[in-house]
Amino acid sequence: MKVALLPGDGIGKEIIPEAVKVLKALRGVSIEFEEAPIAGAGVDAFDDPLPPSTLDLCLKADAVLFGAAGAPQYEHLPRVKRPGLGLLKLRKAMQCYANLRPVKLFPELANASTLKPDVINGLDLLIVRELNSDIYFGEPRGRINDTPGQREAINTMRYTESEIARVAHVAFKAARGRRKKLCSIDKQNVLETMVLWREVVSEVGREYPDVELTHQLVDSGAMMLVRTPTKFDVIVTGNMFGDILSDQAAMLTGSLGMLPSAALGDGTRGLYEPIHGSAPDIAGKDIANPLATILSAALMLRYSLGLPEQAERVEAAVRKALASGLRTADIQEPGTRVVGTRAMGDAVVAALQ
Ligand code: IPM
Ligand code: MG
Repeated sequence: MKVALLPGDGIGKEIIPEAVKVLKALRGVSIEFEEAPIAGAGVDAFDDPLPPSTLDLCLKADAVLFGAAGAPQYEHLPRVKRPGLGLLKLRKAMQCYANLRPVKLFPELANASTLKPDVINGLDLLIVRELNSDIYFGEPRGRINDTPGQREAINTMRYTESEIARVAHVAFKAARGRRKKLCSIDKQNVLETMVLWREVVSEVGREYPDVELTHQLVDSGAMMLVRTPTKFDVIVTGNMFGDILSDQAAMLTGSLGMLPSAALGDGTRGLYEPIHGSAPDIAGKDIANPLATILSAALMLRYSLGLPEQAERVEAAVRKALASGLRTADIQEPGTRVVGTRAMGDAVVAALQ
């Protein structure tokens, strides 16, 4: 099995090694790792946020483990050299159109959430975010007027029927394996794209009569996500709304530093990444939380490498490390012991034994 490692920028460079440490500690699992630059690191090495050699490696691998994209020194660069574009192009080139973002509360962290424990007790939902289309990729786009006083820019929200249908199928199948409830989130009261979204999701739903399908507008959906989050089972939504709602949902669990994700297409090859960013403010200080990346590696074992028992072992080890009272700074609370990035990785490895 071959896994491409793309640490990228900022804390990406610190959290990826922790996930690798955990994967290497799994008995009976042998993975060949190869690292390549992407995002800002790609710009530094090859003047390209997605160097062709990196893309090539990813397309040949069984799975890709990605860290983070972005740092202040790249912010002034033209769009084609922005770190985030490397990630967007990779998602598209790998045809990973379904982004699974599970939001599960570790009971040990109930107090780290900004919401009251009784609101989030038992929280376990899955966001399926469309990842290859929407306003992220729609054409036309760009700056259409640069005259001072008249500057104008444009992006296009655009979806085709097949793009909506394929991600809807993923979401319905996921719901089938869970509590059989799917909530589709759109903005069909305002946007034609989203009228189509609701139409197609409903049509696909006829093939899954055993799954209860509901629809929510994104504004009230966002409200319900903090009011009664445990009422959700699976959420399916577009690229842009999914980006926003998944950060919001992450905070229900206490920290953005806890949420893993898997991006899949039609086959088993996948792109795995923590949903948090590069956190330049804390990069290089050994204080970032590596658990979202370690949990992403667990998803990789499950979905791309065909090793579900090993995935469960890793998830259990994370739980055990938390239960022992260790916390990174982002999830600290009274009565726990704060440790750094490397020490948290070590604790997960120790819990595996
Ligand atoms: C995410 C991130 C990315 C996105 C950025 C880094 C391009 O926010 O994965 O949620 O918007 O998809
Ligand atoms: Mg995001």
